Amino acid sequence: MRIVVLVSGTGSNLQSVIDAAATGELPVEIAAVGADRPGTAGIARSADAGLETFVVDFKDFATRGEWDAALLAAVQAYTPDYVVSSGFMRIVAPSFIDAFPGRYVNTHPALLPAFPGAHGVRDAMAYGVKVTGCTVHFADAGVDTGPIIAQTAVEVLDSDTEESLHERIKVAERTLLISVLKDLAAPFN
Ligand code: GRF
Repeated sequence: MRIVVLVSGTGSNLQSVIDAAATGELPVEIAAVGADRPGTAGIARSADAGLETFVVDFKDFATRGEWDAALLAAVQAYTPDYVVSSGFMRIVAPSFIDAFPGRYVNTHPALLPAFPGAHGVRDAMAYGVKVTGCTVHFADAGVDTGPIIAQTAVEVLDSDTEESLHERIKVAERTLLISVLKDLAAPFN
């Protein structure tokens, strides 16, 4: 199974996918890693791992539609079976979803449909929930919407800061993402 992973930032979850693919624990080929901005740690760590990388910088395009088309072309060039959004902080266009029907997977650091959006951890804490977690789902053109594949619950501790809670969620998120990718890869192996 060939995957393209999209990132916007640190890429620590991506690193766990890279490591699991390298050891053979996860039988996928990471065809490329792409980002929507230059200079991300996610792209740097992918290059360090010897992976193909690309950047479709949002700032390089005059219109949203041109960026959409460029992102789609960049991803399609690698003919992935699945596309994985791992901390990719952009909503893709309906044309992207149409190009990868049921084949675009996103991870989110909350138990969807609760707390979608860019601040899922902060919003869950602000609400005062005692349990939150992470979700891996098939993405559609909405904000963290689309059919849920798997979720893991994570307890919120009284002592938590947004950072400490997000770190614990990310530990669960990495295990969950790899487990989902293994299941998706099963028919290919
Ligand atoms: C993850 O929690 C992801 O769900 C969220 O941003 C975080 C990405 O972290 N959208 P990293 O870039 O993998 O370290």
